[in-house]
Amino acid sequence: MPIRRSQSLVKWIFENQHKLQTVRYCSSSLRYKELEENAAQAQPEHVAPSMAAPADKPRPQITPEISFKHEDLQVRLAAPYQLNPKPEVTDLGFGKFFTDHMLKINYFKQLGGWQKPEIMPFENLSIHPAAKALHYAIQLFEGLKAYRGVDDKIRLFRPDLNMERMNLAAQRSGLPTFDGDELIKCITRLVQIDQEWVPHSETSTLYIRPTLIGTEPTFGIMAPETALLFAILSPVSAYYKTGSDGAVSIYADPNVVRAFPGGVGNRKVGSNYGPTIEATARAAKLGHHQVLWLFGPNHELTEVGAMNIFVVYVNEQGDKQLSTPPLNGLILPGVTRRSIIELASQWEDLVVKEEVITMDRVIELNKKGRLLEMFGAGTAVVISPISRVGFLDHEIRVPTMSQAQPVYQRVKDTLLAIQYGHIEHPYAKVIS
Ligand SMILES: Cc1ncc(COP(=O)(O)O)c(C=O)c1O
Repeated sequence: MPIRRSQSLVKWIFENQHKLQTVRYCSSSLRYKELEENAAQAQPEHVAPSMAAPADKPRPQITPEISFKHEDLQVRLAAPYQLNPKPEVTDLGFGKFFTDHMLKINYFKQLGGWQKPEIMPFENLSIHPAAKALHYAIQLFEGLKAYRGVDDKIRLFRPDLNMERMNLAAQRSGLPTFDGDELIKCITRLVQIDQEWVPHSETSTLYIRPTLIGTEPTFGIMAPETALLFAILSPVSAYYKTGSDGAVSIYADPNVVRAFPGGVGNRKVGSNYGPTIEATARAAKLGHHQVLWLFGPNHELTEVGAMNIFVVYVNEQGDKQLSTPPLNGLILPGVTRRSIIELASQWEDLVVKEEVITMDRVIELNKKGRLLEMFGAGTAVVISPISRVGFLDHEIRVPTMSQAQPVYQRVKDTLLAIQYGHIEHPYAKVIS
C-alpha cells in the first residue's frame, strides 16, 4: 500500500477506533474493576491543589443532610442491546448525542436528605408536572469536559471549580448543596464506564452536564423538599459557527441586558439562558454570530454569548495588555476565564488586568489603532476570536485575525496542551 494511503488509514482508525471496538468496556465489569484499582493506586500528581485532600485535617463526617457519598454509589450497567452506536466525529455538533449511562442522585428532605448515587442506563426522567423546576426555574447546571489526551489518558479540567460554582448556584436557588469531591468521584466513575464515548480526536470531547432540579410538586415559591441531581454525557465538537475568517462577529444591543446587580448573572442557572434567545436571533438577522452583553449607561462589556470576554490592546505605557471585566456579580466566574488570567499572568510580555471596559473605550482604542484583539472564552468553545462588533451605528473591525502572534492563539494552544495532555499540569486531572 502506498505510504500516504496507509498514513491516512491509520489516522482514520485512530479517530474512529471507538466505533471499531467489539468489546464494550461499559459492560465489562473486569475492565471496570481494573480501572478502579488503578485509580486507587494512582499518585495524586495531577490533582489540582484545591482538590487534594488535606494531609493533616480529617474531613468532616458526611451525613445525608450534608451530601451523598461516592462509596454508596450503585451501578446498573446497560445490557448489550441497550448500547447505542457511536456517531461519526464529523456529525457530533453540540449536545445532540448522549452516552449509554447516566448518574442520578435523589434528595428527599423527609428521608434525611441525599440518597445513594446511582449510575444506570440512560433513560428519560419521569417528573411531576407541578415540579418547581418546571415553573420557577428552580434548577442549575454545569458544563465541563473529559478530554482524551495524546497518551490516550482521559482528563478532566479543574472540575473542583465547577463543583464550587454548582454549590453557589444551589445556595442561591434554595436547592440542597453537597460535597463537590463526592460528585467528582461519581462523575469520574460515569466517564470511566462510558469511556469509549470520549472521542479519539483533539477537536472533539465528551461534554459533561451535571444538573440539579427542584422536583417537589407544589406551587409554593420556596426551597424544594425534593430534588434530583443528574449528570449526562454528550460527545461534542465545536460549539459556535464562525465566519470565513475563522472569527465571530458580535452585536451589542444596549437595550437588552443578560444580568443586573443583585441578580444571578454570576450563577449558572437555566433562567439566565432562555431569555437570551430573542436577542441572539435578532443579532443573527443582522448578520452577527453572537450577542455582546452590555450593562449600564456607560455600556460596560460583560460577556459575549455564553462566554467571558477578553480584549487585547496597547496600554498607555505602550505595553500589550490582556483585559477582562472584573467579577462584579454580572459575570459568570468562568473556569476558562480564571485559567487564562492565572496562566497569562505568568507571561512576562503581557500585562493582565481585570478592569471595567466600556464601548467608548473599545471605539477609542480602535480609532487610535491600539485595539489588537477581542475573544470569547469558555469550556464549550475554548477560545472564540472576534473580528467584528456591531454597536448602534458603529461597525468596529477588530484586527484579531491579522496579528502576527495573536494572544488568543497562544492562550488557546496553552489550554489545549494542558487539556489534551501535551504538557502535564495540575489543572488537568487524569481519571482513566
Ligand atoms: C454566561 C457564561 N459565561 C461564561 C461561560 C464560560 O464559563 P466556563 O469557562 O466555566 O465554561 C459560560 C459557560 O459556561 C457561560 O454560560
